[in-house]
Amino acid sequence: MNDQTIPLAGVVGWPIAHSLSPRLHGHWLKRYNLPGFYVPIGLKPQDFETGIRALPKLGFRGINLTLPYKESIMAMADNITDRASLIGAANTVFFRENGTISADNTDGYGFLENLRQNAPGWNVQQGPALVLGAGGASRAIISALINAGAPEIRLANRTRQRSEILKDQFGARITITDWNRASDAAEDTALIVNTTALGMVGKPDLPFSLEHAPETALVTDIVYAPIETPLLEEARVRGNPTVDGLGMLLFQALPGFEAWFGQRPEVDEALRKAILTP
Ligand code: ATR
Repeated sequence: MNDQTIPLAGVVGWPIAHSLSPRLHGHWLKRYNLPGFYVPIGLKPQDFETGIRALPKLGFRGINLTLPYKESIMAMADNITDRASLIGAANTVFFRENGTISADNTDGYGFLENLRQNAPGWNVQQGPALVLGAGGASRAIISALINAGAPEIRLANRTRQRSEILKDQFGARITITDWNRASDAAEDTALIVNTTALGMVGKPDLPFSLEHAPETALVTDIVYAPIETPLLEEARVRGNPTVDGLGMLLFQALPGFEAWFGQRPEVDEALRKAILTP
């Protein structure tokens, strides 16, 4: 890489056509009038490693990773941040000038920043969090919540064994709740978060109700299609504060953009509009 090249970055996945990241980074590049391009890169699994190795030679400063590669990149990385290592997956990769690959995971950062910006009165330390789901997104969120000082995390997942694996890893602040008793576990919580895909367009509804949740509990969802999921609608109607899931997607992109293009971008209403407008 030399200073004469136009900065390139992109998102690698398979398939890749659905990714919103090119639109997101494209909006920021235009808004700050920066030279550079951010492109979607579809790599078939058999081409993943050779494809990734070629990118720095082509002038790429880094990439985001999406399905199915967030875990696969870990084996290729020379440096892994603590948070990516805890989560076991990376969504942001930096190609260093010395030829090494650094892997980071900004999903938990994106989750917390979204809450900080959109629920300013709320504080992670003020009470237990109820987390629905124990997949990859849940790992990133739990790791961020623990790091930020959440006193207790109640974890409910359809497959209980996956909750147990997370408890073994993240320790005593995790308490396991039965999936079909999750609504009861909402009592006294300060935060309720859905990390499953349930409630998304085309997926079944989340079998969960806020009837036992305090009205002060902040309710959030990683699903952003629809923007107001049935869970968020229930919360709004009964008077709970809510934060939708789009912000997590926007904020997780921020550290990569800043490193690759040299400008700390803002997440604002104009960006949300640009992403939501087809
Ligand atoms: P991601 O990386 O997006 O979190 P994942 O690792 O496949 O995706 O995790 C999906 C989460 O949604 C899991 O918690 C999963 O529950 P299981 O561990 O029992 O599979 C949850 N999930 C998906 N479909 C579900 C359904 N129909 N009912 C309940 N939970 C479901």
